[in-house]
Amino acid sequence: MSEMNAGSRTRLNQMPEWTALGKHREQLGDTHLRELFAAEPGRGTAYTLQVGDLYLDYSKHLVTDETLALLRELAAAADVAGLRDAMFRGEKINVTEDRAVLHTALRAPRGAVIEVDGENVVPGVHEVLDKMAGFSEKVRSGEWTGHTGKPIKNVVNIGIGGSDLGPAMAYEALKSFTDRELTVRFVSNVDGADLHEAVRDLDAAETLFIIASKTFTTIETITNATSARNWLLTELKADQDAVAKHFVALSTNADKVAEFGIDTANMFGFWDWVGGRYSFDSAIGLSLMIAVGPDRFREMLDGFHLVDEHFRTTPAESNVPFLLGLLGVWYGAFFDAQSHAVLPYSHYLSKFTAYLQQLDMESNGKSVDRDGNPVDWQTGPVVWGTPGTNGQHAYYQLIHQGTKVIPADFIGFAEPVADLQPGLVAQHDLLMANFFAQTQALAFGKTPDEVRAEGVAEELVPHKTFKGNHPTTTILAKELTPSVLGQLIALYEHKVFVQGAIWNIDSFDQWGVELGKVLAKRVEPALTEGADVPGLDESSKALVAKYRTLRGR
Ligand code: F6P
Repeated sequence: MSEMNAGSRTRLNQMPEWTALGKHREQLGDTHLRELFAAEPGRGTAYTLQVGDLYLDYSKHLVTDETLALLRELAAAADVAGLRDAMFRGEKINVTEDRAVLHTALRAPRGAVIEVDGENVVPGVHEVLDKMAGFSEKVRSGEWTGHTGKPIKNVVNIGIGGSDLGPAMAYEALKSFTDRELTVRFVSNVDGADLHEAVRDLDAAETLFIIASKTFTTIETITNATSARNWLLTELKADQDAVAKHFVALSTNADKVAEFGIDTANMFGFWDWVGGRYSFDSAIGLSLMIAVGPDRFREMLDGFHLVDEHFRTTPAESNVPFLLGLLGVWYGAFFDAQSHAVLPYSHYLSKFTAYLQQLDMESNGKSVDRDGNPVDWQTGPVVWGTPGTNGQHAYYQLIHQGTKVIPADFIGFAEPVADLQPGLVAQHDLLMANFFAQTQALAFGKTPDEVRAEGVAEELVPHKTFKGNHPTTTILAKELTPSVLGQLIALYEHKVFVQGAIWNIDSFDQWGVELGKVLAKRVEPALTEGADVPGLDESSKALVAKYRTLRGR
């Protein structure tokens, strides 16, 4: 444990600011958004903020000026700004791993100075970015050739969690900026079907595997990487020498990379102060950089940096990540909201919510505070969602008329992507009409009298009534560019930070994934050899036996 752990903080729910919020919540009672809008003409433009290219409307939230002031007081009491500054300074705020948390250094401009243990880390960041750029250009131009002399046409990223979700999401998001001649795929699942489907139609001679693993010990990744190596060598009828031209590694662990047989000259490094789920703008982004080119990648980093600076320097009143974090705390604590929906109205953001699931749920899915005491307040919500309008014809029914409080973020763009077929451009207005219609319906609903006025039979009135009062945030930008993507991700990273700081949890460790890993290692011999696993419970023992019977063992 680091020095950041010294001195316990007042427990969150014993702070007077928390009590004040509870009282305020009681006063607010069932106040409807219809009433809040009626009481405050201009609310729809007053409750908005701009950061970079992102316009954020939070008017459709169950808050008043007083709520926001009380939430900011809570943030002040929790010293969110102090922890934020400590993070940016490179202090070891990841207390259980005694590590600095410096993903913000990954997008710091050349010339910035950020020190960890007395060493400026920024030159090293740019050294790796330059090496990635050089390599990407070689692959894109055809200068980098495979073992048989053919240029690379296929890139397969093998990684999992933070070493997969970020580049896979961003590749999808920025598809219209990618070199369409390249096939880029992502393999993460230890289910052999994933690798099988990714390589079955590829020419090994034209395929580059990028093995992405911070630790280079993750069983799924090492298993898939080994199978990919076997596939390549079999397809090429080549020996180990072929590996150097077809495998590169993204890792912090040079020894393990060398042990696997990848030349460390073909390794792109990063550092222990980059958490896996915060690593996509490090070397872990190599597959994306190859796809979009170094200039676009750098534009994305600039987008991240813009929001980092906003978060670092803007007062709480107009600090967007602060606001989003506080709203989440408000709903979790005082409305018993268990989940949070992220609903992008862009097909290109189809993997954005899955990416946020790791970012948010691995960071804030904790139930002890930074001192190890159990928390008795809600921490991270279940994050979920898929792109509109598909969700509208699936689960929106529950958001509109179900019994749960589900705050939701709606993310949309004024322009379709630049290379959309001209014949499809007109559909964009229809997409966005849905975007605006949904938040209106969620907020204002439809009263029984409005339903009756439509001539609906009395017995159907309750069924056709929409209570409304469902809180949403709208994030609108002109278009989905690399910079805007960087801005969006940084926004959510810092939102997660603000919430973790208030809840007083360590948002940067992930001990909860360990137990399953250890047990899987122990269970495997039971499946393959029928070995007796000490400590296997009765139910699991029976399931293992059933599995073996079904497999004819
Ligand atoms: O799921 C646990 C985890 O450690 C994540 O935090 C991480 O992103 C993922 O596994 C992959 O780890 P690595 O990059 O070391 O293979």
